[in-house]
Amino acid sequence: MVAAMFPAAGSGRRMGAKKNKVLLSLDGKPILVHTLRKFSNSPSVDFLVVIAGENEIDEVGRILEDEADLKPYKIVAGGSERQYSVENGLKALPDDAEIVLVHDAARPLVAVDTIEKVISAVREKGAAIAAVPEKNTVKVVENGIIVDTPKREKLYAAQTPQGFKRDVLLNAYEKARKDGFLGTDDSSLVERMGFSVHIVIDDDKNIKLTTPSDLKMAEAYLGHL
Ligand code: C5P
Repeated sequence: MVAAMFPAAGSGRRMGAKKNKVLLSLDGKPILVHTLRKFSNSPSVDFLVVIAGENEIDEVGRILEDEADLKPYKIVAGGSERQYSVENGLKALPDDAEIVLVHDAARPLVAVDTIEKVISAVREKGAAIAAVPEKNTVKVVENGIIVDTPKREKLYAAQTPQGFKRDVLLNAYEKARKDGFLGTDDSSLVERMGFSVHIVIDDDKNIKLTTPSDLKMAEAYLGHL
């Protein structure tokens, strides 16, 4: 079976909101609910693991109780970094989950088609993530000075979902913990094991809602501006 995990334990500092950004309203529903609905509408997804802030578990529980048509789910507490949140989520995986997807709860605009394509690629290749070709010229900067300009054709912005065979992801997390490695996505933990992670080209609507202008953009995509 396929389990999808949703790190949702961030603070929302850059959103400038008092509460967790994934609990903010988008088109009349919390962002988290939009995200979970997308995965509930994906035929290949069987189970959802929502990773909420320790103090928000009850609130998230109440919000999800009111939602009809969600796939079976469990809510667990997150940690102080995204990676620690996912690590907690891994402990709550159903025993028969063979494929695990990790998806930022703050990306509610993900397409069902992208979710399905990532799952197919994982079945075939073991590890795959959604990514978009980079539109900007990206600079590597040290102490305020550009030290490198990587060739743009080679650059992709990593998105989520990121999917892996269960053992691949569990081994990568165990090794990262042993090595004290802290990554900003799940793929980086798997890459450093020497495992090939494939990409699925995503559409650029699948933004991570980080700032107030991202929220406005999401409303616009949903046709409300
Ligand atoms: O902070 P950032 O936008 O990179 O977070 C990406 C996702 O990871 C968000 O959905 C956020 O709620 C989650 N997160 C988490 N635990 C943390 C930090 C972030 O689950 N400690």
